[in-house]
Amino acid sequence: MNIAVYPGSFDPVTNGHLDVIKRAAKVFDKLIVAVLINPSKTPMFSVEERVEMLREVTFDIENVEIDCFSGLLIEYLEKVNSKIIVKGLRMVSDFEYEFQMALINKKLNPEVETIFFMTSNKYGYLSSSIVKEVASFGGCLSDLVPDSVIKHIFKKLKK
Ligand code: PNS
Repeated sequence: MNIAVYPGSFDPVTNGHLDVIKRAAKVFDKLIVAVLINPSKTPMFSVEERVEMLREVTFDIENVEIDCFSGLLIEYLEKVNSKIIVKGLRMVSDFEYEFQMALINKKLNPEVETIFFMTSNKYGYLSSSIVKEVASFGGCLSDLVPDSVIKHIFKKLKK
């Protein structure tokens, strides 16, 4: 069974992430979307909230599971019996960082492959940070994140 892991912060999940999830789910037997627990960052949403939003937007994709992890990605892959990392690639600016991550993960476990999904043209500009910035200034979020996520963002901003 080909199990792939799509790791990230997903703070929050965007339509760009969802596009990668849908396309990767067609390629692998099982896709685990894994939210990084990173105490050194101050996210907008807790890990539990991010996991909940991901579950809401992927409930209809049978072979997708949502999980969270801390520590090294390579160790998490071992735990879930996977040797494939899925990443989305938007533009040249993503490349240097993603190249470095793919190389260090390869160094840590030569059996692991990182497979990149090029972003769909319409999501090339999209990131969780841009979504949060648009939201903070009251801009329109439709087309940027799924509707259920818009509700979570509004709720968070009201607080
Ligand atoms: O969505 P992001 O924030 O770009 O995702 C980054 C993520 C979670 C993929 C990356 O930070 C990660 O894999 N962190 C786990 C720690 C790790 O294994 N780092 C690489 C080797 S030092």
